[in-house]
Amino acid sequence: MRIDIISIIPELLESPLGHSIMKRAQSKGLLNVHVHQLRQWAVNEYGQVDDYQYGGGAGMVMMCEPLARAIDQLSAERSYNEIIYMTPDGQRFDQRTANRLSLSENLLIICGHYKGIDQRIRDHYITLEISIGDYVLSGGELAAAVVTDAIGRLIPGVLNDETSALTDSFQDDLLAPPVYTRPADFRGWKVPEILLSGDLKKVEDWRYEQALQRTKDRRPDLID
Ligand code: ADE
Repeated sequence: MRIDIISIIPELLESPLGHSIMKRAQSKGLLNVHVHQLRQWAVNEYGQVDDYQYGGGAGMVMMCEPLARAIDQLSAERSYNEIIYMTPDGQRFDQRTANRLSLSENLLIICGHYKGIDQRIRDHYITLEISIGDYVLSGGELAAAVVTDAIGRLIPGVLNDETSALTDSFQDDLLAPPVYTRPADFRGWKVPEILLSGDLKKVEDWRYEQALQRTKDRRPDLID
């Protein structure tokens, strides 16, 4: 899968996507992330990509022209399954959307700043608007990194058995059960006996019960 990201601060994406599982996905050639500096499509030699908003009011708006030129150029090179705009008023991101997007061949993600991007770009180019939660970030980059990570780890071959996504929270609409490691007794706090029993069927049943209980307690909306 290829993910192109358009940003005015590409550096913000380097670290989140440059380590651990995202790094491995890219070095295995399973995920190719390309971050593009929007200012290369700026309207003038000063690198301008934003302007005052019509109608007045505080805050700049990202202009049509640089974004349209960027999207046109990248779209001429490949066909995108979705052209995504990261915005707090978008559709709330969840595991279901991550699963669906992980089947894509090419994704293009636009990171907004200031008051956001000109509405005409949203109307004419954007096919999916995503929010990662009901709070406002300084820009779309960290949100784009969250979405890229959540999608990237679902690409077949990225995770091995140890890190398999099948047992993640939300993958079956349940939160993950509690986990323990050595020692079996730490300050008198004991690991549940059943996990030491070696009975795989019982362990599996216990984990399911725990996942169900945790979901009922913390996220009853997932069970509804
Ligand atoms: N940009 C600013 N805040 C955001 C959010 N909550 N989700 C996605 N993009 C954003």
